[in-house]
Amino acid sequence: MKQAIARFAAALALAALLPQLADAKTPPAKTPPAKAAAAPEEKDAATAEFEKFRAILEEDNPAELFEAKGEDLWKQKRGPNNVSLERCDLGLGAGVVKGAYVQTPRYFADADQVMDIERRIAWCMEKLQGFKRADLVKKPFSTDDYTPDLVSLVTYVASESRGLPVAIPQRHPKEVAAYKIGREIFQYRAGPYDFSCATCHGEDGKRIRMQQLPNLLEKRDAMRAYAGWPGYRMTGGLMHTLQWRMNDCFRQQRFPEPGYLSDAVTDLLTYLGANANGNIYKGPGIKR
Ligand code: HEC
Repeated sequence: MKQAIARFAAALALAALLPQLADAKTPPAKTPPAKAAAAPEEKDAATAEFEKFRAILEEDNPAELFEAKGEDLWKQKRGPNNVSLERCDLGLGAGVVKGAYVQTPRYFADADQVMDIERRIAWCMEKLQGFKRADLVKKPFSTDDYTPDLVSLVTYVASESRGLPVAIPQRHPKEVAAYKIGREIFQYRAGPYDFSCATCHGEDGKRIRMQQLPNLLEKRDAMRAYAGWPGYRMTGGLMHTLQWRMNDCFRQQRFPEPGYLSDAVTDLLTYLGANANGNIYKGPGIKR
């Protein structure tokens, strides 16, 4: 493990020497960031080191800690109503957790809404357990000394879909509408740099610093929006869900922060998720 960390540090040092790689701390240039300028061999060396480090960490996947915590939270009687979430319907019937993650976002008749998994669990916490929505959305993302319960719960529920194919339904008209709006949002250019999601994620071979940006318009890369999430990020060592990823990418885009658990985020996740349909989900993972 020590050796792996040393090698990882070496990879970072190598990256620092590559002048082509933009530093994300400096404000972005007006042009879309990071057209892969590095020679292919250099790029591959750095990426390979990350992959090795990730492989070593995955043997002892830190996400498992959050899965265990989430399972505990799922089964405990909690909230003002002192009930567990075991009656929560994640789309496959009350209490069915297996396979639910890879089949959301989906339409829920009781809420008359399309919901992604985080939104749905929050809904159950509110309706079944009696938590207040305002409290659930107050501090939604992990920080150095705090992991929201929802993050652990999502990680647990996601782990119960490990090894199953992504199968996000597109049957109900609201599911179809969510996909279409998600695609619109993905392509929508605005903000101080006139970026859309597609500016960074709509071409092959783009990168920012060490990070290769997936081309989310390509079927081949679509699973990257989904795979490994919820993810334990090596950067910062925090567990994050796709709600966080979307929020952070709006920030990268210099857009106003999207509402946590909002329609806009669900729509984007419907679009990205349904594009990954048919791929096998390997469970919560590790991200840079
Ligand atoms: C300014 C460039 C930029 C814009 C604009 C941008 N992103 Fe990202 N995106 C990134 C970076 C950087 C990463 C992190 C890549 C990494 O860590 O490997 C990322 C990662 C992601 C990931 C996770 C991919 C993975 O491999 O896990 C998803 C999904 C994503 N973005 C979606 C979006 C969506 C949706 C939008 C529009 C709301 C968007 N991005 C806008 C730069 C951008």
